[in-house]
Amino acid sequence: MKRSLGTCYYPEHWPEDIWARDAERMVEAGLSWVRIGEFGWSRLEPRPGELDWRWLDTAVEVLGQAGLKIIMGTPTATPPRWMLDKWPDMLARDAQGQERKFGSRRHYCFSHVGYRHESARITELMALRYGGHPAVVAWQTDNEYGCHDTTLSYSAAAQAGFRAWLADRYGSIEALNRAWGNVFWSMDYERFDQIDLPNLTVTEANPVHWLDFQRFSSDQVVAFNRIQAEILRRHTEVPLIHNYMGRITDFDHYQVGADLDIASWDSYPLGFLEDRSDDGDGWKLRFSRQGDPDFQAFHHDLYRSVGKGRWWVMEQQPGPVNWAPYNPAPLPGMVRLWSWEAFAHGAEMVCYFRWRQAPFAQEQMHAGLLRPDSVDAPGLEEARVVASEIDMLPDVGTACAPVALVFDYESAWSWKIQPQGASFDYFRLVFEQYRALRALGLSVDILPPDCDDLAAYALVLLPGLMTIGERLERAIEACPGAVLAGPRTGAKTIDFALRTSGSVLPGLNTRPAYVESLRPGAGRALQQGGSFEHWVETLDGDDPVLERTVCGKAARVGTAQRQYLAGWADQAALVRILESICVAQGIAVMRLPQGLRRRDTDQHRFLFNYGAEPVTFDGITLAPAGVHWQPLL
Ligand code: GAL
Repeated sequence: MKRSLGTCYYPEHWPEDIWARDAERMVEAGLSWVRIGEFGWSRLEPRPGELDWRWLDTAVEVLGQAGLKIIMGTPTATPPRWMLDKWPDMLARDAQGQERKFGSRRHYCFSHVGYRHESARITELMALRYGGHPAVVAWQTDNEYGCHDTTLSYSAAAQAGFRAWLADRYGSIEALNRAWGNVFWSMDYERFDQIDLPNLTVTEANPVHWLDFQRFSSDQVVAFNRIQAEILRRHTEVPLIHNYMGRITDFDHYQVGADLDIASWDSYPLGFLEDRSDDGDGWKLRFSRQGDPDFQAFHHDLYRSVGKGRWWVMEQQPGPVNWAPYNPAPLPGMVRLWSWEAFAHGAEMVCYFRWRQAPFAQEQMHAGLLRPDSVDAPGLEEARVVASEIDMLPDVGTACAPVALVFDYESAWSWKIQPQGASFDYFRLVFEQYRALRALGLSVDILPPDCDDLAAYALVLLPGLMTIGERLERAIEACPGAVLAGPRTGAKTIDFALRTSGSVLPGLNTRPAYVESLRPGAGRALQQGGSFEHWVETLDGDDPVLERTVCGKAARVGTAQRQYLAGWADQAALVRILESICVAQGIAVMRLPQGLRRRDTDQHRFLFNYGAEPVTFDGITLAPAGVHWQPLL
């Protein structure tokens, strides 16, 4: 597969007479893809049933004739105002029961049956018109499911859907009462239609009530997307894609991805550092113009898995954005670095958001490849450089990494519902283990919790995986490499009850006797270095103790091949522990200087300098924002 570049374009924002020149300039810059259409509904259907295809027909012709490949977006993230007159109850409601109004985007509830029909209708109309067009060579469904906190809705439509979903899952009200433990606080129900959504209860609702609502809400996203995917499949054979986001765990991306051909995500490294990082001000200052050195890579690896091997960056930050608390310009070279890093993780395409900065509306302060006056913005030159370099290194090839990390959306929901400690966050737990692997120079594969084959991995990490399902259990049993679980792995049943028998990991005889959460500053030091922060467990069982806390409690137990970590290890402890396991497994590791990152494809080794200073490593000096590659020996 050849690497390529693209951009996101909104012909409806610009006079028609500049479209041809825009297209020409895109091609001159070395871009070959253009995404259009995803917010264009009010101009496609200005009044119910009154379609105006002329502008989009023209845009498709103009862009196609310039030689660009079009990704057509379905416009369902932005229903027009008239839709609310037709379906006044289609708006989502927040957890306080307040309606979320019209006037921005994503103003719909996934459970609203009427809106689902509207979404199917416009998708079908677009598919009929452009499904066979030779220039339209990919489709994007909707835009960023879950963005702006829109997965969970507390509307009447959601309530009706939830009751039906529960009846289907449990079959009888007795089974639900049993599974939820409703004898506690006299919460038993007699009928499914008595069950409300779990918001606005006097004190916390039953955690499995929440967990089921979260499962239901995720299923609504999957169902909404599937309707569009099935329609598109009837009219086109080109790949179907959705653009996911960074650190969004509200719905199960693997399940949405199962209905599509390629996963993509929207990568805004500087915005995410300011907006979504758990790290302190020192870290943010150090990387403020480069982004977190592991955040992008984590999502690249995650979405490679969601896309079953095929993935793109659908939106790449090209300059300052508008939505983070602080919005600096990328350090010169970073737009190129981000693009190459994506390719090194197997991206087939990197698409810059957006072509030209809009001088109006919400995102007028968001840079594009062009300034609002059409002069080249700094990102365009870097895109040009990447385009010219692609010719030197055209192929995307991903090797199987030596290490795998399991990432599970249901665990994210569970630990959010009942964290048992203010700082217990599943994404953060997994991400810190990922960061430690990267600090050791390792390439990582991220796997779903139902994966059934771990044969290729020398090391598999399972942090905080709430339950280990049967498929994964069999895969662990057959895995020839080392497996490191914990903390909080295998802790619950699928009904969110504490497990009272069995072991947390196949091959071990270990179970927590009790757990504690720790406030900042109250960490427990480990004898061999580093400490447990946030969370610590006291274990029952007879597995050999591999290391202890300074107070003498078992901190890591097991054998060379199967180990359990009884707490949330900090970076120092993680790097030390992972290094020792890798050495024992014969996996080559190397402690990298801070900010330097490494990634192997099937043919090349890449180095990336996220630092603002030059760095020399292994005889190679990289400038700030430097990228280096060499053939693998
Ligand atoms: C994305 C979104 C785009 C645009 C962009 C701004 O989340 O898909 O439409 O809003 O952010 O950074």
